[in-house]
Amino acid sequence: MLKRTHFCGAMRPAHAGQTVTLCGWVNTYRDQGRGLLFIDLRDKEGLCQIVFDLESSAPDIVSAAKALRREDVIAVRGSMRIRAGDPNPKLATGEVEMVVADLEVLNKAETPPILPDEHEAEKIGEETRLRYRYIDLRRPRMQHILRTRSRITKFARDYFQGNGFLEIETPLLIKSTPEGARDFVVPSRIYPGMWYALPQSPQLFKQILMVAGCDRYMQICKCLRDEDPRADRQAEFSQIDLEMSFVDREDVMSMMGGFAKGLWAELFGIEIGEIPRMTWAEAMETYGIDRPDTRFGLPIRDVSAIASQTSFRVFTEALAKRSPSGRSGVVKALRVPGGAETLTRKVTDGYSEWSKGFKAGGIPNAKWNGTAFETGIAKFLEPVAAPLAEALGLEAGDVVLFAADTWEIATKVMGELRLKVAHDLKLIPEGTWNFLWVVDFPMFEWDDEGKRWVALHHPFTSPNPDQFGILETDPGACLSAGYDLVLNGSEIAGGSIRIHRMDVQERVFSLIGLDRAEAEAKFGFLLSALRHGAPPHGGIAFGLDRLVMHIVGTDNIRDVIAFPKTQSGGDLMIEAPGAISDEQLKELHVRNVPPPQKV
Ligand code: AMO
Repeated sequence: MLKRTHFCGAMRPAHAGQTVTLCGWVNTYRDQGRGLLFIDLRDKEGLCQIVFDLESSAPDIVSAAKALRREDVIAVRGSMRIRAGDPNPKLATGEVEMVVADLEVLNKAETPPILPDEHEAEKIGEETRLRYRYIDLRRPRMQHILRTRSRITKFARDYFQGNGFLEIETPLLIKSTPEGARDFVVPSRIYPGMWYALPQSPQLFKQILMVAGCDRYMQICKCLRDEDPRADRQAEFSQIDLEMSFVDREDVMSMMGGFAKGLWAELFGIEIGEIPRMTWAEAMETYGIDRPDTRFGLPIRDVSAIASQTSFRVFTEALAKRSPSGRSGVVKALRVPGGAETLTRKVTDGYSEWSKGFKAGGIPNAKWNGTAFETGIAKFLEPVAAPLAEALGLEAGDVVLFAADTWEIATKVMGELRLKVAHDLKLIPEGTWNFLWVVDFPMFEWDDEGKRWVALHHPFTSPNPDQFGILETDPGACLSAGYDLVLNGSEIAGGSIRIHRMDVQERVFSLIGLDRAEAEAKFGFLLSALRHGAPPHGGIAFGLDRLVMHIVGTDNIRDVIAFPKTQSGGDLMIEAPGAISDEQLKELHVRNVPPPQKV
């Protein structure tokens, strides 16, 4: 067998005159009829043109060469030369070519169902690409992404190990832990009727590693959450997971900020500087979301006081509302500078319709002509025109969009509307990196039915050091020591200082409705660890897939995972999930299984 000496994509003019052996896949072939057969041979490094001179080659090579088709796997030996024809400026190897002396066909390929070609990839449906992922991954773009991902994990390991973190693996077969999502579960063969859960994250194990004296832990781990995949969410995803002992919030944030800075310097040569901070309250008030995209302005304003002076029923009824958390209803306004030209009636009607998806009743709006409101709800705004224009800093040609509802609904719909308007009016600058720490989250929020508190982060998150008293007296107002790192409006990391005292952990469990017996049954091991010498500790987890998405510039999480799941949670290549035999089911003590459906 011919032994590879070089990579196709590495051939340069300096190799001219050398005899080399290249191995790879036939990317394209061109028989130009003048006794010459050209092939672009591809490997992970790129393409190299190889030329068969059919007139001077041995007959067996000629017949084998003529039979070559796309995606056949071959090895060729020959001498490199500066191209006889015109150089190809689009290829890194575009100035050279190999004149083939020897050919070995390592494997003929069936006619490929898809081609590993960027142009083709755009035309082919993603499902087909996922089904033939082994061909799709041959694309240079996918190879680049895999390589970038590997550089990121290497950088993470180097950075954290350099800072005294130990890489420690934690188990996959565990017991259900509450992190907000549904668990994937695995039946136990040995314990009939008992189930393992797959970890939503290594949260409790990393805390226990701190109790175990490990001081600094890191792991690049898989997390499994049985939730519906979305553009930036997979049921099975990866984290760069971290935990540190004897630290406060500042220590963790500065260590993680250092990681982000180092990574951007390494990959882009960019100095991202100090990462700004914003409180959760400000993020919600001004951006309507806990992960604000600060690449553009469009601040949201609460105009409840002014709106209460109007007789517009939508406003007055909203202001009279009260949400389960006890907050009064609000009227929020979004000033769109110069929006009069672009936000036509059709567009604003579309926003109103769209807002119903967020349980809002519509998006009332009006244009400002410099002295008065026009169109939309202008007549209702007449009595407050001057103070409203003043409060919003309106200029002629601006449009104001309103949301009037409970605080929760108005905040949510405004946050989404701000993003939609920015997207529709192309206000989001490309190529900027806006990092932001969001801090001072509330410890709890009301669940959707308004019946009980739920932990906003997870129930192991500590209150801020000055908030322990408030945890007792007014849990709804208690702020946590949690922090999220946001990049261009996406949450790339989240973490917190943890509760390390048993009494505080019990108080939090009881506030979220877990009584002592239930807490013991579910987390007896954690409570026991907290009783046996738990140091103050805290940590964070980066969403590795999301980090890679930003770095390579894609908004599809499946692009950055070698073998991702589809939107409906299936793996089309291996056809998972799949049915199992009655025999296996019996062994696992699982009954009442409906007939299988196709993925
Ligand atoms: P959290 O649940 O916030 O925290 O997750 C941390 C980060 O992981 C990423 N992420 C996801 N990425 C892809 N698909 C998903 N379904 C998905 N869910 C989350 C996000 C997020 O910021 N144990 C805690 C961390 C801690 O407190 O230390 C945890 O898992 O980028």
